[in-house]
Amino acid sequence: MIPLTLAQIADITAGRLHGDPAAVVTGEVVIDSRRAGPGGLFAAVPGERADGHDFAAAAVAAGAVAVLATRPVPVPSVLVADVPAALAALARFVIDALPAAAVAGITGSSGKTTTKDLAAQLVERLGPTIAPAGSFNNEFGHPLTVLRADAATRYLVLELSARGPGHIAYLCRVAPPRHGVVLNVGHAHAGEFGGLDQVARAKGELVEALPAGGAAILNADDPRVLAMAACTAARVVTFGVDDRTAPIQAAEVRAAGVRLDDLGRPSFTLLTPEGQAEVTLRLHGAHTVPDAVAAAALARELGLGLADIADGLSAAVARSRWRMEVRRREDGVTVINDAYNANPESVRAALDALRHLAQDGRGFAILGHMAELGEVSRASHEDIGEFAARAELAGLIAVGEDAEPILAGARRVRSWTGEALAVPDGHAALQALSNQLKPGDVVLVKASRAAHLEGVAADLLEGAAR
Ligand SMILES: Nc1ncnc2c1ncn2[C@@H]1O[C@H](COP(=O)(O)OP(=O)(O)OP(=O)(O)O)[C@@H](O)[C@H]1O
Ligand SMILES: [Mg+2]
Repeated sequence: MIPLTLAQIADITAGRLHGDPAAVVTGEVVIDSRRAGPGGLFAAVPGERADGHDFAAAAVAAGAVAVLATRPVPVPSVLVADVPAALAALARFVIDALPAAAVAGITGSSGKTTTKDLAAQLVERLGPTIAPAGSFNNEFGHPLTVLRADAATRYLVLELSARGPGHIAYLCRVAPPRHGVVLNVGHAHAGEFGGLDQVARAKGELVEALPAGGAAILNADDPRVLAMAACTAARVVTFGVDDRTAPIQAAEVRAAGVRLDDLGRPSFTLLTPEGQAEVTLRLHGAHTVPDAVAAAALARELGLGLADIADGLSAAVARSRWRMEVRRREDGVTVINDAYNANPESVRAALDALRHLAQDGRGFAILGHMAELGEVSRASHEDIGEFAARAELAGLIAVGEDAEPILAGARRVRSWTGEALAVPDGHAALQALSNQLKPGDVVLVKASRAAHLEGVAADLLEGAAR
């Protein structure tokens, strides 16, 4: 954070100051009082279980200089009408004060965090880079990430998410991006948007916000993304994967010859206008290849050379938890923890990886509900079941009532000989599966965030003894 006095903060946020106008905030801006530290600013927001205002005193006791709040608190504060709007105003002020810092935004229905984490590990080779931990991609996480920038910052690699029209345009006003990556248009939150075309329009807000000097980095393999080329003032750079479906147009930056090792880690040849290089990812699943190529295209745009890109991608690790974490137990059972979230595209990607990993053993999937799909929800769950059965799984366990249509879909595949089971919760899934697992088996655990199935994966990993 660049140092700001409380007087400046009150001015920028149109807030009312209660405290010493000359006191200076030098530390991090946080919304979790437990993370408040010396020199910081604590923003009080209502949470799921508690109201941040109740922790104002604790944050100041922990060292925060003041609290950004909407109602009076017994410690130094700046009272504002709306905390997210105040954070946005502060973030915009900071980014405007740092013209040497280039902002890159990444959006898409699936793979934002994966791509952001890969891109950050490349861009860090160029200079001081700010990138959020995990998904920090909404009206809170986005400005909080931007506020971490200071005079040394050269790059910000940001993840932009939309749950409705206008959200990405808003985030782009908070920190105007120079370069933008659009990964894909899929069914994540499609129910809230009203369909894929609406999702595409929302993701397109990123490229609409780009300036003429920037680059719109678009997935050539996704027609809805490629069509966004018409909606931007920026130069268009395409990325893609050669040997998936027939490319609509050969992408400028692309992967060819994708192959997977026994744990599903992809190797490929990265092709760019400057030449080609071999890459072996440490991530699991063929679906990470377009993410990696998108990250490469962004890093290339920022000036990273091909050798560094290939080297950086091969060295990059998964920074965010519960996305295709593959672990093998001592007894030879492999667990894929992909319990961070779920939508039709990411479940298919995970089932493809499961099928690959289980080539020499049996594949089991513990699948929970895919949330926020709207009116296509039931049909989408059935289709996933059918897809899973075609992947010839030995067992398919649907967790919770909302996930049961998965089993109906699986039964549509008459030739499927695997076992289908509906259970009420993760614990029951564990009980049903634990005793029958043997060396060589592979278990995928995946559901939307609300299902919290990551605990099931953790128990499976510990649970050779169970
Ligand atoms: N290109 C892709 N296509 C399909 N699925 C993908 C792709 N990239 C990642 N995934 C899968 O999507 C899930 C979410 O990945 P990730 O967290 O990177 O996405 P995200 O877009 O950041 O999600 P969120 O909207 O929850 O922030 C994981 O299961 C991951 O394996
Ligand atoms: Mg994310």
